[in-house]
Amino acid sequence: MQKQTRRIAVWDVLIRLCHLALLVAVALAFYTTKTDGAPFLFPIEVHAQAGYVILGLVVFRVLWGLVGSRYARFSTFLYSPTRTTDYVRALMKRQEPRYASHNPLGGWMVVLLLLSLGFQALSGLFLSDDIFFQGPLNGWVERDLSRDLARLHALNSDLLLILIGVHVAGVALHGAKGEGLMAAMVTGVKRFARPPVDEAPAVHSATTQRLCAVGALLVAAGVSGWLWFA
Ligand code: HEM
Ligand code: HEM
Repeated sequence: MQKQTRRIAVWDVLIRLCHLALLVAVALAFYTTKTDGAPFLFPIEVHAQAGYVILGLVVFRVLWGLVGSRYARFSTFLYSPTRTTDYVRALMKRQEPRYASHNPLGGWMVVLLLLSLGFQALSGLFLSDDIFFQGPLNGWVERDLSRDLARLHALNSDLLLILIGVHVAGVALHGAKGEGLMAAMVTGVKRFARPPVDEAPAVHSATTQRLCAVGALLVAAGVSGWLWFA
């Protein structure tokens, strides 16, 4: 095996914290739908609050994909269908190039995860359990529409579980090849034997980057906070 000497800081601290927070909040959102047989049972409000946090995290990740650090940007890791199929062909032949940010398949998986998470949390806002709980936007829709959204909420939760399963399998597959993706999600750093194909210079000065971070965090916190206290 070639010695992996080059170290590149790919995931900034906000990406790593956002991922960790997503993991915990999504686990909590699923756990809190349990109504019997679990060691701890939670009221549906806790389920909704996990959802508000998830929505804030998704908003933050979308904004950070637009104005964030270089490897966090959608423009860095979203590729055309042609580039994506080229990558899949190379993967089949085990000759795929290495990327600092997400590879083309990983990039599209991030989009699917964010869409599914966003829809899940947004649809939840319109639901009611028909007993004690009403989502903050439940009053905005007719009862029938709320029921339809509840069905989609249940359906999309299955899709989300499948996406998470595929995501974790993809990470494990690349991990088995020694790419160290999991370690990079903890330390922020990936190691390479030769320069990755998507190596890119910083997009902003450190000060501008910090200002963008504060702006994105404030908007995200505003969304979560408004829903939590609405
Ligand atoms: C990404 C975040 C969320 C996840 C993963 C999630 C997941 C789920 C799941 C798996 C169920 C059970 C579905 C079934 O009947 O099989 C459920 C039900 C429910 N969720 Fe969520 N949910 C999320 C966000 C929210 C939010 C933000 C709210 C409200 C503000 C909410 C309100 C509800 C309600 C009221 C039910 C029960 C619906 C009923 O009684 O039919 N959820 N959710
Ligand atoms: C609730 C479950 C999970 C969700 C919703 C989730 C979501 C995501 C998202 C949205 C990203 C993109 C990161 C970004 O660009 O901001 C990501 C990346 C990543 N996730 Fe997860 N994740 C989950 C569970 C896990 C687990 C259990 C692992 C560990 C096996 C994991 C390992 C990773 C790694 C290593 C990356 C970076 C992949 C790369 O370098 O291309 N995730 N995840």
